[in-house]
Amino acid sequence: MSIEFSDRVTRTPPYPMAPAYDLPEDVALMASNESPDPPLPAVVAAVARVLGAANRYPDPTNAKLRAALSTRFDVPAEQIAIGSGSCDILMAAGDVLLESGAEVVYAWPSFSVYPYLEAATGARGIRVPLNDRHEHDLDAMLAQITVATRLVIVCNPNNPTSTAIPLDAIAAFVQQVPRHVCVLLDEAYCEFNTLDDPDSSLELLKQHPNLVLMRTFSKVYGLCGLRVGYALCADPRFVTAVNQIRQPFFCNSAAQAAAIEALRHQDVVAERVERNVVARVEVESALHDLGIEPAQSQANFCWFDLPEDSPGEADVVAGLADRGVLVRAGTGLGREGALRVTYGTPQQNDRFIAALRDVLGR
Ligand SMILES: Cc1ncc(COP(=O)(O)O)c(C=O)c1O
Repeated sequence: MSIEFSDRVTRTPPYPMAPAYDLPEDVALMASNESPDPPLPAVVAAVARVLGAANRYPDPTNAKLRAALSTRFDVPAEQIAIGSGSCDILMAAGDVLLESGAEVVYAWPSFSVYPYLEAATGARGIRVPLNDRHEHDLDAMLAQITVATRLVIVCNPNNPTSTAIPLDAIAAFVQQVPRHVCVLLDEAYCEFNTLDDPDSSLELLKQHPNLVLMRTFSKVYGLCGLRVGYALCADPRFVTAVNQIRQPFFCNSAAQAAAIEALRHQDVVAERVERNVVARVEVESALHDLGIEPAQSQANFCWFDLPEDSPGEADVVAGLADRGVLVRAGTGLGREGALRVTYGTPQQNDRFIAALRDVLGR
């Protein structure tokens, strides 16, 4: 006899993890959409200050962080949810909205954690293919909404394809979604998006009581190792619900302190975004020179199909790894023969391009 596990375990797909956690030497980590910049000294100091009180539980109400976010976005604190990374809020959203018989609609390929929602709750996941430009097909998504739909997720910019939908198209979409369906706009990469002001989606919160904007400190703020994210919610009951079903201390004191301090440095955010735009232009142009047409990136990474005469995806990924560059294979992310590459420092970007040229034999 051995212990028996629940069906949820077999239903849950394995996360396509980057092979980067036990590396001996200098490698360019371009597989996980992280920031190449270490935390600011002021953020490290803020974390150090709270560590001396680590014998105490963190503030379960996250009051100071919610107040800081409330001031930053002019959204009442009771409409702000905090999570141990935004994934924590995402999974909690599944728990409070979904169950057997319910449906969740999302685009595909999109964030690899979305399929966990149906696996965790027994709901039906409806995956709507992206269009030829690797963008959400919002009309096709609308057509999939039924009386059973409880949650629709729009990832903007989309991971793994890097593309963004203009905000007016999203506004028109939300307008047509029935009010009982929660629309979760996953904006993990919104700061990098130059199509619209990253904060223009805040306007939609005032118009649509079923809207949730989910964001994170993991990307432009560079704090993914601490795990802290947030959601700005039109309906404060969403916040109450996701808090009710999670363990009480879901965001640790170091993460809360780091996030509060990081928010004070919007000038650094602006600089990082600017550098990301430069990286985007340079990598895109180098890819073009190799005969590759990447998707139109509005994020801190690019996405492209390998050329037809290229070695197979696994061989390219392995060849890049042999040259000290870690990138993500498309197959685990929903598209065979594609690569997702996070922009790094200028040196890392050059190293990636040189390695790719070599592996493709150009
Ligand atoms: C689209 C998207 N949403 C959410 C997340 C979750 O980030 P975190 O849990 O680190 O906040 C990620 C992380 O890669 C992501 O790509």
